[in-house]
Amino acid sequence: MSALLNIDGVTVRFGGVVAVNDVSLTVAKGELLGFIGPNGAGKTTLMRAIIGMVTPQKGSVSLDGQPLNGMPIHRRIRAGLALAQQIVKPFRTMTLAENVALAVGAGKTRSPWTALAHRGNATELKTAHELLARVGLTDAVDRLPSELPLGFLKRLELARALALQPKLLLLDEPLAGLNQAEANAMADTIAAINSEGQSLILIEHNLKEVVRICPRLYVQDNGTKLADGPTQEVMKDRRVLDAYLGSHADAEA
Ligand SMILES: Nc1ncnc2c1ncn2[C@@H]1O[C@H](COP(=O)(O)OP(=O)(O)O)[C@@H](O)[C@H]1O
Ligand SMILES: [Mg+2]
Repeated sequence: MSALLNIDGVTVRFGGVVAVNDVSLTVAKGELLGFIGPNGAGKTTLMRAIIGMVTPQKGSVSLDGQPLNGMPIHRRIRAGLALAQQIVKPFRTMTLAENVALAVGAGKTRSPWTALAHRGNATELKTAHELLARVGLTDAVDRLPSELPLGFLKRLELARALALQPKLLLLDEPLAGLNQAEANAMADTIAAINSEGQSLILIEHNLKEVVRICPRLYVQDNGTKLADGPTQEVMKDRRVLDAYLGSHADAEA
């Protein structure tokens, strides 16, 4: 089976800090890969290296056989990547539908900024409504982000990323800040999106949910790969347990 994502020996340093240390990882088409590790493990940095927000000192990344090294972010998005970030920053004065319509348009235009001039044509708005329904926000399409709690905004961020129709969707802690009931529902939404064929990497601190929905886990600690394999096996790995019990005793919270 040929890999959708191929990460080969990637190292990212910030001054003296080695945030990602010689990491190799592959993701197959259709997979839902859970990506866990204690705070500061370099999870976000690896996602940023994939999408092109940081430049690795070493190593290579390719998507569907296409090398991404040296490509700016907007070209990587056109190549089939999208990242839903942990800190959500929607346009506060646009409705949820307009926010998603903007992303629908941005995926098609050459420059990511061209789309900023308008709030979505009828076709883009129709697609936006469909995407918002897919993430459970049908009743909120005409609301403003400033009126809504975090749970809605995390789902909006997911819809905006889906609007780019990525081959591979990177989710950075989409459950962070949600209560357990909201986290459970959001995890169900992510699992449903995967079962429709969307390939995903899910970074998550909520071990309970990540273990429940992800068949495979990749674990990173201190920038280095600790484990990679079927979820049940990885969760029995002594080094993984130590990394969590050592510095992340609230992992089950
Ligand atoms: N832009 C940056 N500049 C300097 N150091 C950074 C930067 N981004 C991350 N780091 C450092 O890299 C390490 C990994 O951070 P991060 O990737 O955010 O970890 P995680 O997402 O697993 O919590 C940390 O020590 C963090 O302080
Ligand atoms: Mg992070």
